[in-house]
Amino acid sequence: MNDVFMNTYHRLPVTFARGQGSRLIDTAGKPYLDFTSGIAVNCLGHGHPAVVKAISEQTARLNHVCNYYQSDVSAAFAEQLVAACAPAGMRKVFLGNSGAEANEGACKIARKYSLKKYGPGRHTIVTLKGSFHGRTITTLSATGQEKFHKDFGPFTEGFRFVQSGDIGALDRALDKTATAGFLIEAIQGESGILPQSPAYIEAAAKFCADRDILLMFDEIQCGMGRTGTFLGCEAYKVRPDIVTLAKGLSAGVPVGAVLAGEKAADVFEVSDHGSTFGGNPLAAAAGLAVLRIVNNPAFLADITRKGQMIQDKLRAWNHPRIKEIRGKGLMIGVDIDAPAWDVLESALAQGVLILSAGPNTLRFLPPYVITDEEIDQGLEILKKIL
Ligand SMILES: Cc1ncc(COP(=O)(O)O)c(C=O)c1O
Repeated sequence: MNDVFMNTYHRLPVTFARGQGSRLIDTAGKPYLDFTSGIAVNCLGHGHPAVVKAISEQTARLNHVCNYYQSDVSAAFAEQLVAACAPAGMRKVFLGNSGAEANEGACKIARKYSLKKYGPGRHTIVTLKGSFHGRTITTLSATGQEKFHKDFGPFTEGFRFVQSGDIGALDRALDKTATAGFLIEAIQGESGILPQSPAYIEAAAKFCADRDILLMFDEIQCGMGRTGTFLGCEAYKVRPDIVTLAKGLSAGVPVGAVLAGEKAADVFEVSDHGSTFGGNPLAAAAGLAVLRIVNNPAFLADITRKGQMIQDKLRAWNHPRIKEIRGKGLMIGVDIDAPAWDVLESALAQGVLILSAGPNTLRFLPPYVITDEEIDQGLEILKKIL
C-alpha cells in the first residue's frame, strides 16, 4: 500500500487504527504507549474529548470560509493565541498551515521590516548551525544542516549560520548593516534536544535590540506548553519580536502561526501575505479547545512535574548505556552509546513509541496527558531494552 507514496519517509512496520489518550492501537489490536505525540503534535493525546467535541461541532457548522470573509471562531482563536503569547510581548498573529509556512512568514516580516526602515541590502537572516526550520526551499535555506541541503539548490539567498553558544561569532554575524533577523529555537529539537544557554540568548537579545535586528523564536517544536511554559522563550529574560508556532497548536489539525510584537505587528499590509486554508474555522475550533486546556498555570506546572519525574527516573537508573539526559518539561533527549534507531525499533516491538534526534539520541515528546503510571510502564520497558 505504501508503493504509491513518494519515497520520503523511513516508515516503520506498523499501521495504526485508532488512539485514546497516550495509547495507540494498531490494525491487529496491539496497544502502544505513545511517547512521541506525533512529533509534538498530539499534545493532548489521542481522542481528547474537548478536541473531539470542538471539531465535531465545528465541522457540522462550517469547515472553511475564504479570507475574503470573517469567521468568529478564527477570530476567537487568534485573540486567545495572542493573549497566551502576550507575556512574551506578542500583539498580532498570521495563521497558516504548518511550521515551515510560519517560518516563511517570519522571514518575510523581517525582510520587509528592514527594507522599509533601512532600504535594500539589509536582508540577511542569521540562524544556527544544527538548526531545523522546515523543508520548503526558504526554510531549508534557513536550516543549518548540510544533510538537508544536498541536491536541492540553488537556495534562497541571504541566510548565514553561526555556531550555537559562541557569543563572539554571533556578535560578528549580526552585522547591523546587513542583517534583518536572527531565527533561533530555544531548544533545538531535530538536532538532539539541545537547550540554548541563558547567557547566549540574553546576548543575542541585546545584540538584536541594539542593532534593530528582529529576534525570532522558532517555537514550532518547543512551544505550546511543551517545556512547561506556554512558550519556550519565556524561560529566558528576553522579549522576542517574532514567534512561530505549529505542531501542538491544534492537537493534530494542521495549523501554523507567526506572531509578532510591537515592532513587527504591523509590517504586513493588505496583499503582502496569505494562505488559503490558514486558520480556517475547523483548525481554529481545535486550536481554541487546546488553548483553553494548555494555557493554564496548573496544567503547565504539571508538564514540568512530569518532565522532571522522567528525568529523575532516568538518572536514578545510573545506566551505563546512558551518557547524557537533557531537556525541559516533556521535551527530553537522552544520549546513549548505541544506535538510537535500534532502541526505537525494539521499543516499537515491545509496544512503546519513542523518537530519535540524531544517531545516538533518544527523543521523548509524550502527550501532556500521559499519566504517571504510563510513564513508569514505558520507562520500565525502555530500561529492559537498554
Ligand atoms: C523547530 C521546527 N521548525 C520548523 C519545523 C517545520 O514544521 P513543519 O513540518 O510543520 O513544516 C519543525 C518540524 O519538525 C521544527 O521542529
